[in-house]
Amino acid sequence: MQESLVNEVQEYTNKYLEKKSKKDRKKIGQFFTPAAVADFMASLSGDYENFEELNILDCGSGTGILATALVDKFKTHKNLKRLHIDLYEVDSDVLPILTKSMEYIKHKLENSPIKFTYKIIHGNFVTLNVDNWNSESVGCYDLVISNPPYKKISKSCEEAVAMNSIVHGQPNIYFLFMAMALKLLKENGEFIFINPRSFTSGLYFKKFRTWFLENVNISRIHLFVSRKNVFGNDQVLQETIILKAVKSRLKEDMMCISESTDSDLSKNIFQIYMPYNTVITKNENKFILLPTNEEDVKIMNLMSNWKYNLIKLGYKLKTGPVVDFRSLEYLKNEPSDETVPLLWLHNFNDGLIRFPVTKDGKPQYILNNSESKKLLLENKDYLLLKRFTSKEEKRRLQAAIYSSKEFNYPQIGFENHLNYIVKESGNMELNELFGLYALFNCDILDKYYRIVNGSTQVNATEVNSMPLPEKELIVRIGDLILKENDLSVDKCNDIVNNIFNI
Ligand SMILES: C[S@@+](CC[C@H](N)C(=O)[O-])C[C@H]1O[C@@H](n2cnc3c(N)ncnc32)[C@H](O)[C@@H]1O
Repeated sequence: MQESLVNEVQEYTNKYLEKKSKKDRKKIGQFFTPAAVADFMASLSGDYENFEELNILDCGSGTGILATALVDKFKTHKNLKRLHIDLYEVDSDVLPILTKSMEYIKHKLENSPIKFTYKIIHGNFVTLNVDNWNSESVGCYDLVISNPPYKKISKSCEEAVAMNSIVHGQPNIYFLFMAMALKLLKENGEFIFINPRSFTSGLYFKKFRTWFLENVNISRIHLFVSRKNVFGNDQVLQETIILKAVKSRLKEDMMCISESTDSDLSKNIFQIYMPYNTVITKNENKFILLPTNEEDVKIMNLMSNWKYNLIKLGYKLKTGPVVDFRSLEYLKNEPSDETVPLLWLHNFNDGLIRFPVTKDGKPQYILNNSESKKLLLENKDYLLLKRFTSKEEKRRLQAAIYSSKEFNYPQIGFENHLNYIVKESGNMELNELFGLYALFNCDILDKYYRIVNGSTQVNATEVNSMPLPEKELIVRIGDLILKENDLSVDKCNDIVNNIFNI
């Protein structure tokens, strides 16, 4: 029996898609895995040739294409006698298709030595398993495969409350699925998920990431080149990864990271084995670093020798405190004795700050009175970093020097779309400021940031823990760039690459 079961389920899925609107599917985080991706995920499962029984979980199963892909792989296993699948699905509209898929498999396996059974559990995968989450006992599944729903939920939702030990701020249901599925696995059971990349960095995922990484041994992470089209016509704008891991507190020495284009999974355009300890950062944030080419790997190796970061060096990156729509009463278009400058992203100008610049009617001044004072900063030297960049922009890290000398005011306002790096005690020397500027404006740090974080936002947690060289080197870089009197990215790259022999 060599025909592909997955292709048949793909047909059922296509028919269902004709009937259910995108809008309705979006509400429940429903988008379906294409057959080629499902096959690829199933191909990552381990060697079960000697198993007589397999107990599989597919949570958020939709039409059941992922479980079907596993059956396709296991249906020729000589020793397999029993194959059972539990499928959780909340959407009653898709249940008839799910049943049809499972009945189709049952029919196809009728004359095989494998006794195939399945159970469709119509309900909420997370809340139905709260008791298991709170129990000490280990799970019952050999393997879990899932494309979980992707949806932000409120912190007070039943799911979030039930799993609050791994929730910080507003959670996304996808990582609650990951945690619950892991909990339900047997020790050394296999975990194969396709999900957004966002949990690999960021403060909001830290509690989950820490718990998850303690309990899994990741063997493979696969990235898709573009954030579009992994899911066919359903454009999922999140960067998506496939993760294969085993439930175990022991870690392998190495982990495989690969990348392919969206459409052709058979061709990895990049594949590398990296030490586990290099991929998972050693600091308390436990970021998962995802290089996508040889140059990224070189950068990771270089920066793994840098022992400092902004915090250790006495600096800190913070976010501009002025949120315009919350501060309307203080914002002014014209200066007066009571106002100080308010800087926005559009004041960035080739590494420096140009002021005033009128753009889209955004006020360039903010009142400096007893009420607004809490939003203002002391007028000292800062390195400004854009907090948001567009997907089309080449660089994530874009820096500009704020020199206190240029602004004859006691206070200054920074709008919330920009970040600033401040020296926690005292003011920065000129060569420190320019040294940090050159580093944050060079390609090495920009690429490192992308290895850590796939989004277009520049977050404080990531930047504050980025490895940096010792202060003496930063100052030396600053002296060199001051001497050159050229703040271009090319010049920053020349100087930094030269110092580090790249
Ligand atoms: C991203 S889709 C993936 C469907 C299918 N596994 C696939 O790969 O094509 C996620 C599925 O989870 C279902 N779902 C959403 N929330 C759920 C919940 N709390 N419990 C169980 N299923 C849920 C949705 O209805 C949807 O069918």
